[in-house]
Amino acid sequence: MLDQSAEGYVTADGRQIGPVVLELKNITLRFGGVEAIKNISFDIREGEIRAIIGPNGAGKSSMMNVISGFYVPQEGEIIYKGYKRAKMPPYQVARTGIARTFQNIALFEGMSVLDNIMTGRMNLMKSGFLKQALWWGPAAREEDEHREKVEKVIDFLEIQHIRKTPVARLPYGLKKRVELARALAAEPQILLLDEPMAGMNVEEKEDMSRFILDVNDEFGTTIVLIEHDMGVVMDLSDRVVVMDYGKKIGDGTPDEVRNNQDVIDAYLGVSHDE
Ligand SMILES: Nc1ncnc2c1ncn2[C@@H]1O[C@H](COP(=O)(O)OP(=O)(O)OP(=O)(O)O)[C@@H](O)[C@H]1O
Ligand SMILES: [Mg+2]
Repeated sequence: MLDQSAEGYVTADGRQIGPVVLELKNITLRFGGVEAIKNISFDIREGEIRAIIGPNGAGKSSMMNVISGFYVPQEGEIIYKGYKRAKMPPYQVARTGIARTFQNIALFEGMSVLDNIMTGRMNLMKSGFLKQALWWGPAAREEDEHREKVEKVIDFLEIQHIRKTPVARLPYGLKKRVELARALAAEPQILLLDEPMAGMNVEEKEDMSRFILDVNDEFGTTIVLIEHDMGVVMDLSDRVVVMDYGKKIGDGTPDEVRNNQDVIDAYLGVSHDE
């Protein structure tokens, strides 16, 4: 067992994990008669890669949507940076430093890669749209700053060669990378990735894994990752939450979770198409 003290700890392979930054307490989420999340609690530590796994329909995306503020749970609370988070719309949650990608790609297909990534900075823009549109004084200076940040993200994710390409023309794997770029452009403290590698081939998965590790390493970004590929999960994550039918059935290091009988049972006989 790891000594997970309040201030943080160092993992067996030397990774520095910080204190708890976000805590989900007794979260219950219902859609009509369906209980998508049943009284689940877990925490996320600063700088860690925290995976959420489980069979199809387990409630993983719902949980991510609760963290991003897209769904408001009927019960439970979210403690973020030591304070109970008030009810707020997703764009306000985003302003507190939480960015996400979607299970199904949600980009503006007709717009260029560059412009799509720029939309990731919308939340950080101070000048209103009118000033931006008129390219006026402080707005023009602000725009330059945003462009600079976006160019850094483009370099980091090695997508210079497609910066002017309309997203519609990109192959699937690159679209997923552009979505990651857009989320990174928001300079999040917590990055939520809902199946960033689904549908990718082995090589694309390796690239995406490397980028996720690099983001975590270079910027200290805390990462919450939903992923079906167990090899990827075991390789990347520091701790794993396992969900099944809306319940939490496991929580621990990859090794702890792998040897948990409830987890093994939940996965037996369950088919995964991703
Ligand atoms: N907006 C919604 N309205 C009604 N039911 C929903 C809604 N979103 C999710 N659900 C239901 O909640 C349950 C959990 O769904 P969720 O998408 O969170 O699962 P998941 O673990 O992400 O699955 P997958 O691996 O297939 O993506 C399912 O029964 C689903 O049908
Ligand atoms: Mg999902």
